[in-house]
Amino acid sequence: MRLVLIMDGRFFVASIPPYSIEQPERKYIKMKEKLSKILDEALALVQAPDADIEQIKIKYLGKKGELTAVLRGMGALSAEERPIVGQLANEVRAQIEAAIGEKTKQLQAKALEEKLKAEKLDVTMPGKALPMGHIHPLTQVQRELEEIFIGMGFSIAEGPEVELDYYNFQALNIPENHPARDTQDTFYISDNVLLRSQTSPVQVRTMEHQKPPIRVISPGRVYRSDALDATHSPLFHQLEGLVVDKGITMSDLKGTLEIFAKKMFGEGTKIRFRPHHFPFTEPSAEVDVSCFVCGGKGCRLCKGEGWIEILGAGMVHPFVLSNCNIDPEEYSGFAFGMGIERIAMTKYGVDDIRLFYENDERFLKQF
Ligand code: DAH
Repeated sequence: MRLVLIMDGRFFVASIPPYSIEQPERKYIKMKEKLSKILDEALALVQAPDADIEQIKIKYLGKKGELTAVLRGMGALSAEERPIVGQLANEVRAQIEAAIGEKTKQLQAKALEEKLKAEKLDVTMPGKALPMGHIHPLTQVQRELEEIFIGMGFSIAEGPEVELDYYNFQALNIPENHPARDTQDTFYISDNVLLRSQTSPVQVRTMEHQKPPIRVISPGRVYRSDALDATHSPLFHQLEGLVVDKGITMSDLKGTLEIFAKKMFGEGTKIRFRPHHFPFTEPSAEVDVSCFVCGGKGCRLCKGEGWIEILGAGMVHPFVLSNCNIDPEEYSGFAFGMGIERIAMTKYGVDDIRLFYENDERFLKQF
């Protein structure tokens, strides 16, 4: 804007910024226009499908927002205009807020719907099948053995795998330098402490803590310093049996083992006792079962014998009873011990003990 002044016959041209002389009515109208522009813009932004509500709030309603800027400029208005513009500004604010509130509700509903859609779970859909393992054949056989003997009134006793020489040998009537130690050479931790070579020490531990009548079995790991081959392993499993009471005889042993053999290998199974020697039983026997493949005629499984050796047994030696403070004049007992691998190999026709430890699924799947 230019202003031409005539003073003392001279012209002065003054350049004046336009706002300084703006008319008050102009200001009022501009503010009203500005407010309706703010309203239009804000509503359009709110209605956009991807509206950023927080940004819109800051831009229009915030402390440094456009609406606040308009209110700040109200000082330039006249006393009559101020309430009118103020009311208008309040209405604009209320409308923007209402639109934002409505939009927020819509967006929340949409988000919920999407979430529900994404998280929908159809319980009738077939599940993803996980490959299922099963009990190892040796554990299966051990459990089967346990069940048979529990059915005859036995309970399960446990003993340590790291054993004292006393329990593994001496108390079982195998003194130092006894030749029976040669066949059970094991792993020594010290002169006195070893990995048990048999489950028989559990007999002694049981008798030390329990007075007759005793009827226990004890399955578990045993160790021997044998090289691994088709029939030997430095770690294998045995199941021990012990019965002590008044008047126990060899016929009780025979009857018990016969029931066991029939349950394990089939009703037609017969058993046979062959005289043998174990230091901790007297008399002692090795026990065979009739071959359940050929019925005794001779085949590949029994190597033409008709019989398969499955365990050692005998009447508990009086020395062993005395070692455990049980009077051999009053009590007698029988004991037996079998290799769980041998039972499993016999029952399932497995010809190599190593198959049990190799974890090859092609083998394990068959049980
Ligand atoms: N412990 C013996 C071994 O490992 C097996 C055995 C034989 C256990 C006769 C017994 C038994 O309880 O009476 O060779």
